[in-house]
Amino acid sequence: MTKVQIKSAEQIAAMRAGGAKLVEVLKEVVGAVRVDVSLTELDQIALHKITALGAKPSFLGYQDYPATLCTSVNNGIVHCIPNNYQLQEGDLLSIDCGLIWEGMHTDAAVSVVVGQDIHGHLPLLTSVYRALLAGTNEVKAGAKVGQISKAIQTSLSRDKLTIMRQFVGHGVGAKLHEAPIVPNAVGHDKDVVLPEGSVIAIEPIAGIGGEAHGTDPDGWCARTLDGAPVAHFEHTVLVTEGGPEVLTPLDSIIQFRP
Ligand code: MF3
Ligand code: CO
Repeated sequence: MTKVQIKSAEQIAAMRAGGAKLVEVLKEVVGAVRVDVSLTELDQIALHKITALGAKPSFLGYQDYPATLCTSVNNGIVHCIPNNYQLQEGDLLSIDCGLIWEGMHTDAAVSVVVGQDIHGHLPLLTSVYRALLAGTNEVKAGAKVGQISKAIQTSLSRDKLTIMRQFVGHGVGAKLHEAPIVPNAVGHDKDVVLPEGSVIAIEPIAGIGGEAHGTDPDGWCARTLDGAPVAHFEHTVLVTEGGPEVLTPLDSIIQFRP
C-alpha cells in the first residue's frame, strides 16, 4: 500500500519558506546563464546562494551525487552532473535544484535557452511548462494521482511530444523522494488519493524525438540516443481542499509566455 505523508502545519510552513528560497536560487542561476559560462560555475553559484540563505543543498551527497544542481544540456534528459562544458548559443539547458530548509526538501527545475534561440527550442519549453500547469490544475485534496498524470499526458500528446516515461514526479518532504510516484503518463499509483496537507513534486520531461535513452559512464546523466532535445520543468505543490498551492512558483523565471 502506498502511504502518502501528511505534513504538519510546521512542516508546511518550512516548505513554503524553503520553496521561496529555492525560487531565489534558481532565479540567480538562470540570471547567470549566458554563452561561455560553464556548468560548474552555475553549480558554484547555486551552492553559494543556498548557503547564503542558510539552507542546505538536497542533491549534494544524495546517493553520492556530487553536485548541487543537475544541469542537463540539449539531449541530456535528467540527472546530469555539472562539468566544465561551456554553454553555447542556442543550447537548451535544464536546471534542477533542491534545498533543505528546517529539515524539509523542496525540488524544482526549469529549462532555458542560452542566448538567442537559434535552434527553435522555445516551443518545446512552452509545451512542457504548459503540461506542468495542466497537471498542477488537477491537484486538490481527494484527487487521484492518475488525474494529474492524465492531464500531463494529454497536454504533451496534443503537442506531439515524446514523454520520457521512465522519469517521474514524486512525493517530497522530510525526504527528497517520498510516495507517491507521480508519472507523466497514467500508470504507477494512479488510484492513490492525495490527502489535504500532502506535498508532491510534479515534473514533466518530454522531447521531440525518440524515447530511447542511455546513461553516461558517470552512472547519472540520462541522454536520448537519437540526440533529440528534451525539456524539464518541475515544481513542488502543496495539496489543499481549495486546490494546488505551488511552493516553488517559476513564473518569474521562465523565458516565454505560458
Ligand atoms: N529533482 C531530481 C529528481 O527528482 C532530484 C535528483 S537528485 C540527484 O529526480 F541526486 F540525482 F541529483
Ligand atoms: Co524531483
